[in-house]
Amino acid sequence: MKAVYFDRLGPPEVLTLGDMPDPVAASGEVVIDIHAASVNAADWRGRSGTFGTIDTFPHIPGRDFSGIVSALGDGVNDRNIGDAVFGVCPSGQEGTYAEKIAVKADIIAPKPKSLSHVEAAAIALTGLTALVSLEDTLKLKSGEVILIQGGAGGVAGFAIQLAKHLGAYVISTASGENLDYLRDLGADEVIDYKTQDFTALSPPCDAVFDTVGGDVALRSFKVLKPGGRAAFIHEREAPQPPRSDVTALRPAVGRDRAHLTRIADLVSSGAIKPPQITEFALSDAATAHRISEARHLRGKLVLRIR
Ligand SMILES: NC(=O)c1ccc[n+]([C@@H]2O[C@H](COP(=O)([O-])OP(=O)(O)OC[C@H]3O[C@@H](n4cnc5c(N)ncnc54)[C@H](OP(=O)(O)O)[C@@H]3O)[C@@H](O)[C@H]2O)c1
Repeated sequence: MKAVYFDRLGPPEVLTLGDMPDPVAASGEVVIDIHAASVNAADWRGRSGTFGTIDTFPHIPGRDFSGIVSALGDGVNDRNIGDAVFGVCPSGQEGTYAEKIAVKADIIAPKPKSLSHVEAAAIALTGLTALVSLEDTLKLKSGEVILIQGGAGGVAGFAIQLAKHLGAYVISTASGENLDYLRDLGADEVIDYKTQDFTALSPPCDAVFDTVGGDVALRSFKVLKPGGRAAFIHEREAPQPPRSDVTALRPAVGRDRAHLTRIADLVSSGAIKPPQITEFALSDAATAHRISEARHLRGKLVLRIR
């Protein structure tokens, strides 16, 4: 199969398009012919060696996918060859910048019928992360006020829509050219972080969802009401709160069919629409990494593989 891989950690130029062995479905696994895979921050952070420890080469990056089941391993009874499915690789596996992948059958779900493969790939890991963060971790409730940092990014774009669906009042930050995009996703209030101070403008919040990290994450504690909760996904651990009356949380984003099915249901009900998507050929993965790495993209970058 064709795949994009790297033989050493380094800049985007280490990404190479070449031939790799076709995967074989082990017991409990399926082989998926991948139609689309999205580019996530973890891909370039892993490639550059700034996140995780990739030490086995060649390494094929890529965490989420949408495609067609093309082979079944022993014991797989609830999937059929030809099923359109989407999903996210288990942490540490990776390998979706490729024409095929073998994964456990219990971490894939039927692709939402209304979405193309490109759209389904765009909401797999972002949707999973937003669901685990807002529903399972922050336990966001109707009527609560939430500040979502980095609203124009992939995870936050899903989170804005999910928070609105849950009945929350949503405030979100972005640069000026992305504010209309945030409003279109459903944000009630938007803040241009380049010209405005979110700590002065945000009303007291029940919850914060931070996708930016660094100083933005640390300053986010200021907007919380006493008893407020904040979830952080940029680093592996949540920052230490500078006050004792709030809680800092790091969502544990696992992989399972139930969350993917919930994503599909949210799409089918019209609660969630796909983000703005920029498509790239698999051979152009390095360009997509350069854009993602600059951390000012709107929506999602997706590699179209078939
Ligand atoms: N399993 C997990 O825990 C998990 C899963 C997925 C992602 N993540 C992490 O979540 C983070 C977000 O990922 P992502 O793919 O959604 O987005 P991303 O590509 O890292 O973020 C891009 C967005 O951040 C915005 N941004 C940059 N600086 C900002 C600032 N100071 N204030 C507000 N917004 C700012 C940009 O908007 P402007 O262009 O308007 O500046 C852009 O839309 C990453 O660190 C990633 O590693 C974790």
